[in-house]
Amino acid sequence: MTEQTSKPYSLDGKVVLVTGASKPDGLGAAFVRAAVKKGAAKVYATGRKVEAVDFLVKECGDKVVGKELEVTNSASVHALAESCKDLQVLINSAGYMGHGGDTLLGGPMDEAERRKVFDVNIWGALSVSLAFAPILSANTDSSLIVVSSVGAFTNFGGSMAIYNATNAAKDVLTAGLSAELAGKVRVGSIYPGPVKTDMLKKGVVDDPKQAGYLDTAAEPQEFADAAMAYLEAHGPEGGIFGDELGKMCKVIRDATHAKASELEMMAY
Ligand SMILES: NC(=O)c1ccc[n+]([C@@H]2O[C@H](COP(=O)([O-])OP(=O)(O)OC[C@H]3O[C@@H](n4cnc5c(N)ncnc54)[C@H](OP(=O)(O)O)[C@@H]3O)[C@@H](O)[C@H]2O)c1
Repeated sequence: MTEQTSKPYSLDGKVVLVTGASKPDGLGAAFVRAAVKKGAAKVYATGRKVEAVDFLVKECGDKVVGKELEVTNSASVHALAESCKDLQVLINSAGYMGHGGDTLLGGPMDEAERRKVFDVNIWGALSVSLAFAPILSANTDSSLIVVSSVGAFTNFGGSMAIYNATNAAKDVLTAGLSAELAGKVRVGSIYPGPVKTDMLKKGVVDDPKQAGYLDTAAEPQEFADAAMAYLEAHGPEGGIFGDELGKMCKVIRDATHAKASELEMMAY
């Protein structure tokens, strides 16, 4: 992914879509509220059932438009894209960790459940990105943002290898989209550390060793507001960070990228 840009960035007046906005305390809903606060003209908010995002319409008013989306269903993804041709900012936030505090060797997730984690996080997010890529390319001032995780940098905790592998894959796919859409759409990932949502709370119930994450976790709205402020200050290209752990991972990632480009220069 290309590094930070000096090009100004603003959500003011933009048409935004956030996937996975069905939970009042989830990150998706928090990104919707943050985009409205930043002056977005319209924010499409998706739930697997459209009624699941009614609370956001009630909270934020008619700037928020509810939409239905099941990311693993191609017909649902394409119907959504057909109905949002004015989109300028896609925020791919829907995600799934799987149940049970899964360890690679000890389980308890079976292969079907592990494949579901890959299906939702990798194929789901990618198919949404691909369905909207032509729309974003045709519209002005567009950007495509994928919610990854600091877990993309390393496997935090023994019970999250499958989930973190999907974040790493998402991240590399986003870098691929960034290269292919260069000059047309601004592309980047958001890297949250632990955030107090249902996903993390369930993770702690499943694997009490993760309890330490809850102690230091950010509040969802606090994280989303900080991430949108970071996005406006830096643009999406160098990654979007809303907490200190993410910013520390960025320092390591940037050093690795610098070394990798040195090696690439030596190879060619
Ligand atoms: N919380 C953290 O600590 C943390 C840290 C790093 C990254 N993240 C990432 O942040 C994003 C949001 O996570 P969160 O913490 O807000 O999780 P969450 O509270 O579990 O919410 C997940 C959202 O994704 C939706 N979703 C799941 N499967 C879907 C599918 N097949 N089709 C459409 N929507 C689907 C859920 O809808 P339903 O309500 O219908 O299930 C829900 O709206 C995820 O990509 C996650 O990996 C979270």
